[in-house]
Amino acid sequence: MRVAIIGCGAIGSVLVEAICRGYVKTELVALMDICPERCENLTKSFCSEFPNISVCRNLGCMLNAKPQLVVEAASQQAVREYVPRLLQHGVSVVVLSVGALLDEHTLKAVKDASRVSGAKVYIPTGAIAGIDAVKALANAGVKRVVLRTYKNVKAFDPETLRRLGFGEVRERAKIFEGRGDIAVKLFPANVNVVAALALASGLIPWVEVYADPRLEKNIHEIAVEGVASTISIRVENIPHPRNPRTSYLAALSAIQLLKQLVGGETVVVGT
Ligand SMILES: NC(=O)c1ccc[n+]([C@@H]2O[C@H](COP(=O)([O-])OP(=O)(O)OC[C@H]3O[C@@H](n4cnc5c(N)ncnc54)[C@H](O)[C@@H]3O)[C@@H](O)[C@H]2O)c1
Repeated sequence: MRVAIIGCGAIGSVLVEAICRGYVKTELVALMDICPERCENLTKSFCSEFPNISVCRNLGCMLNAKPQLVVEAASQQAVREYVPRLLQHGVSVVVLSVGALLDEHTLKAVKDASRVSGAKVYIPTGAIAGIDAVKALANAGVKRVVLRTYKNVKAFDPETLRRLGFGEVRERAKIFEGRGDIAVKLFPANVNVVAALALASGLIPWVEVYADPRLEKNIHEIAVEGVASTISIRVENIPHPRNPRTSYLAALSAIQLLKQLVGGETVVVGT
């Protein structure tokens, strides 16, 4: 399968390395980033044996490389800007910045484009456990979803913290409590989990976000109450060394999804 990647940051770099080192058996045809030198550095570091990978500055260049699947690992803005257009061209997309899909206009544009072309959108959810159970539970009815996220204060945009009245955080502080759709707008790079839970359960989660100057992990606690089950999930993730907002497990989850999509696995576990 011909694969391209938008976003050569923490997650993109893990994916490029996995493909170019042959851990994911697929062909990398193009990379794109608003900082193209990040793509160039990655191809130099990991893909010197593959000189035909295009480093693109716009979507036209990426489409010329004829990818069958594009991984978006960039930003919510990139989802709005590129994903509906890729789908219109019949290219399936893996979306990491899933928070963008809590906006109903973006979700509609994505669904409409996908319906017309038949191209699909895939959302990796391995950074939290249990999404297969939440999806199953939704078939009988989900009554309530609560997410508590704890991250080091460095994981948050300092300007957002200042606006919320947390310019200086010396001990664990609850910096937000409210609806999930508001949380993903306030913290676009921190709580993609909210959107994954919303899409899986059919309910907008209630969200609490904590900043903690001493915490060395990204922790998600999730409670889901449904007709058939009550589910409690707690995940303690190691932050990616290049980006404290992102859990390393999120990148590994994208690798796992790619391995499933490019084929070769004869037994697929999980729904
Ligand atoms: N779904 C999940 O479980 C999950 C988990 C962690 C992070 N994320 C999201 O995945 C995305 C990537 O995460 P990351 O840690 O690799 O981020 P990062 O900041 O390390 O890298 C993002 C890269 O994308 C580039 N970029 C940003 N906007 C762009 C645009 N419009 N066009 C082209 N390039 C653009 C940046 O220059 C940067 O190099 C973020 O939106 C993040 O919030 C999702």
